[in-house]
Amino acid sequence: MRLAIVGASGAVGHELLSVLEKSNLRYDELRLYASPRSAGTTLECRGKKILVEVMPEGKIDADVILASAGGSISKSQAPIWVEGGAIVIDNSSAFRYDENIPLIVPEINGDVLEQHNWSKGGIVANPNCTTAVAVMALYPIHQKYGIKRAIISTYQATSGAGAKGMSELLEQTKNALENKPVTNEVFAHSIVFNVIPHIDSFQDNGYTKEEMKVAWETRKIMRAPNIKVSCTAVRIPTLRTHSEAITLELEKPAQPNDVRTLLETAPGVEVRDNPAEKLYPMPLTASGKNNVEVGRIRSSQVFDGGIDLFVAGDQLLKGAALNAVQIAEYMQQKGLIK
Ligand SMILES: NC(=O)c1ccc[n+]([C@@H]2O[C@H](COP(=O)([O-])OP(=O)(O)OC[C@H]3O[C@@H](n4cnc5c(N)ncnc54)[C@H](OP(=O)(O)O)[C@@H]3O)[C@@H](O)[C@H]2O)c1
Repeated sequence: MRLAIVGASGAVGHELLSVLEKSNLRYDELRLYASPRSAGTTLECRGKKILVEVMPEGKIDADVILASAGGSISKSQAPIWVEGGAIVIDNSSAFRYDENIPLIVPEINGDVLEQHNWSKGGIVANPNCTTAVAVMALYPIHQKYGIKRAIISTYQATSGAGAKGMSELLEQTKNALENKPVTNEVFAHSIVFNVIPHIDSFQDNGYTKEEMKVAWETRKIMRAPNIKVSCTAVRIPTLRTHSEAITLELEKPAQPNDVRTLLETAPGVEVRDNPAEKLYPMPLTASGKNNVEVGRIRSSQVFDGGIDLFVAGDQLLKGAALNAVQIAEYMQQKGLIK
């Protein structure tokens, strides 16, 4: 199996390499591509130094391509790669809302992949990072209690905007502490000592595209078209891990203890919920972890029988690289790829 990563030098690309180190995905060859800016550098995976090459124009000689170079590249290039026979696992939002393209979190809807014929290639969409983190906790609750409405407020790390987002936070912090001028390029305002309720572009309905992605993708992944979702997405000055405060209205009333027990056995979830011991989800503890932390589970004061909870998940892992590699592993285990 010939594997390629496009965007290997980026924030998600680096994580893809480190996830592959520990993954049992079988491949014979791994090629890495980026822009001319980082072509010629080398990156390491499974004990081998691999040259980063300029992304070729046209088709790429690979069976599976992990695409992580942004939406416009995916939009223009992925169809060409598929014509060449490749399966593209795409990290961008370019294809997520196409009803013929599976949007996958393997623990939740991996079976959708088995309904497709991949012999001539095709595209699998990897979800938005905030959504992927949320649905790990929401899906088990939905299966048992039925979610009617979800109100979500997010606390999103700067790495959600890529490697340059992290650099901007570090640079601004240094300049602010040295009383030097602080300038911003990646974020709409200075992010140091600030929070910014603006991620992606504003839509006609007053929500941002990031907020609408959470609504659209939650419904598609959980195959639950009737769940109503209202999200407020906020950028905060942390390096990695997205956190989310979630309030749920449920079809059947739930008790916090039962929800805690349910989530304790849910795949990809770590319950961290003992306020008396100061144990709850935080970027500090969730960063670098495959599992999404869930805690602060309590009865809603707004919806009778509803639940409030807090989640923190490393969005570069479950929200991007880990989930993409898990999709490839799932497809290999099911014989859908070599
Ligand atoms: N960051 C997250 O939390 C996250 C989560 C889920 C999904 N995603 C999605 O994943 C994708 C990558 O995000 P990221 O955060 O890793 O961004 P990033 O850190 O900015 O990395 C972008 C990558 O794309 C490469 N690239 C840019 N322009 C290119 C071109 N013209 N030809 C070939 N390669 C090019 C860059 O190469 P150079 O180094 O050579 O410039 C770099 O390797 C985006 O679609 C993003 O929306 C990100």
